[in-house]
Amino acid sequence: MSEQIAYLNGDFLPLTEAKVSAQDRGFLFGDGIYEVIPVFQKKLFQLNAHLDRLRNSLNAVSIQDPYTDTQWETLLNDLIQKHPWDNQFVYLHVTRGVQLVRDHLPENNLKPTVYAYTNPLKPVADHILKHGIKAVTLEDIRWLRCDIKATTLLPNVMMKLAAKQQGADDAILIGRDQTISEGTASNVFIVKDGVLHTPPLSNRILPGITRMMIEKIALDHNIPLLEQQLFLADLETADEIWLTSSTKDALPVCSLNNNTIGSGKPGPIWRKMQAYFEQTKQALMAAED
Ligand code: PDD
Repeated sequence: MSEQIAYLNGDFLPLTEAKVSAQDRGFLFGDGIYEVIPVFQKKLFQLNAHLDRLRNSLNAVSIQDPYTDTQWETLLNDLIQKHPWDNQFVYLHVTRGVQLVRDHLPENNLKPTVYAYTNPLKPVADHILKHGIKAVTLEDIRWLRCDIKATTLLPNVMMKLAAKQQGADDAILIGRDQTISEGTASNVFIVKDGVLHTPPLSNRILPGITRMMIEKIALDHNIPLLEQQLFLADLETADEIWLTSSTKDALPVCSLNNNTIGSGKPGPIWRKMQAYFEQTKQALMAAED
């Protein structure tokens, strides 16, 4: 394929040539915010919801949103069109900017660094659709503002590595109060006796766009849904567990801490939700035409 293109501070350039200052606060302090937006049939999916969340994250850390929604939409669409893939996921990233003197306290009036690039969005592998993934539970070692989509992902990286070292695909995280928060890069749902459960929004979890869509679909299709705190025992006795995110939709978890969940296969409610989710995607994309 022709070379991959990135967007950096107003310019499109080859991905391999996109470079920022080593004095960028994003590099030195992890002082930045990001979003990951899926693209289906070359169309940004749930763009407004992602831009709202971006703005909430930026407000929470006092970085000014450098662009209007229309400017974001134009630049992201330009980026998508420069690549051949129908389905993509766009990464966008805003840091506080470049500061020459080291200080935790940011200088006033820094110019945010804006970066975006895109990757092909691959369908979830067949063996996962048939057999689900394996997860382990781990202590949630992150900070108390997981509602902010911060670029500072070291704890998430460490927990993902720890899960892999235990032979699992991912981890489901348990806070100091013993409640379940989310996955390392996903929200969590369980099904018990036909009822869908997910932890309520709080500072402990990211307000996932996929989570929001699944809740809406459940409501529209009369699948009972409860937002409530979940504990390890709820996971262990669940009929189904799902991990949800923009790049994977809902992934069924069929093994937890080496114990089988439900029947050991992706469950019937997941199957239903997958079909409804696909219909919703198609309908929303068609509405944009
Ligand atoms: N992550 N929780 C965390 C910690 C996440 O990182 C993500 C997504 C989610 C799900 O949010 P959404 O449904 O809006 O994608 C929940 C993205 C995909 C990432 O970091 O690559």
